Amino acid sequence: MLSISVTKTTAPKAKPQKGAPLGFGHIFTDHMFVMDYTEGQGWHDARIVPFGALSLSPAAMVFHYGQEMFEGMKAYRGDDGKRYLFRPEMNARRANRSCDRLCMPEIPEEDFVQAVRELVKVDAEWIPTGEGESLYIRPFMIATDEFLGVAPSKTYLFLVILSPSGAYYESGLAPVGIWIEDEYVRAVRGGIGFAKTGGNYVASMIAQEKAHHEGYSQVLWLDGVERKYIEEVGAMNIFFKIDGKIVTPMLNGSILPGVTRDSVLTLCRSWGMDVEERRISVDELLEAQKAGKLEECFGTGTAAVISPVGKLRFEDEVMVINGGEIGPVSQKIYDTITGIQLGRVEDPFGWRVEF
Ligand code: COI
Repeated sequence: MLSISVTKTTAPKAKPQKGAPLGFGHIFTDHMFVMDYTEGQGWHDARIVPFGALSLSPAAMVFHYGQEMFEGMKAYRGDDGKRYLFRPEMNARRANRSCDRLCMPEIPEEDFVQAVRELVKVDAEWIPTGEGESLYIRPFMIATDEFLGVAPSKTYLFLVILSPSGAYYESGLAPVGIWIEDEYVRAVRGGIGFAKTGGNYVASMIAQEKAHHEGYSQVLWLDGVERKYIEEVGAMNIFFKIDGKIVTPMLNGSILPGVTRDSVLTLCRSWGMDVEERRISVDELLEAQKAGKLEECFGTGTAAVISPVGKLRFEDEVMVINGGEIGPVSQKIYDTITGIQLGRVEDPFGWRVEF
């Protein structure tokens, strides 16, 4: 258990006005959590302090070799007025898997969750209550050694910041158009694709720009070797309903093991649906589409929740899915997951954590 000192701000910021659109990731609360790591000493000086700039050496290793890990989680104000987190231990566990791959120190899972809980409690009044809104939580770790050699840092900072946010995509639940990328790749097996780290996201930006230019809002990545099999969307994992079955790419080392992905698989199985985690080729999608069997497609992610896909473009082929409308299974999954998160429906899996 961490001993966390709390220094409250003397200049609280104005909170967003109720009803005004929050967007995603633009607004930050009054406080942040900070903790230091020093080799030989471990994690120390856990503190909640006013949100503000960091002072780092320009030689800090994070700036040069990208040794950093981040997570994404949300806190909700339930319809019953209670504060909830959603499966926070899954994020703590995934953070440590990312840290292992990136040669960064692990944080005990209970300390990670405690840091998040205590910070959200201090800024609880910032949890927004509008439809589709939540307090987005961004835990992250950076390498801070003042050193230009390529080697793991010996000192780190772990921080948590909070951002009251609405839907990740401006379109909300309206289906998005997705570009299947066949020139650039995001990750390869044996690389860092499964880790939540900035490098994976910067690798995606050039294709994202290309997709935007073509009028598509996101990129769907293919595997880096054969450039044939579906991987993920970068900010989301991807699911299809093909001929009645729910199908998603299996975790193969280059795909992010999403918490929402895992929750959707568990939910669909609990409803008795046929669920498959396996390789899915673009050709299979094109054939299913031609045969009228590509029934639904949706992305899953903490920020995006469930994001229906109305259109997939691969080279010159455009696959319109369910007439460009959200499908019934996508809608049911969205309603159930958000219902569990907000305390609106029963939580048979124990995912909702009151704190
Ligand atoms: C999340 O869904 O929390 C993510 O981290 C995706 C992010 C790139 C917005």
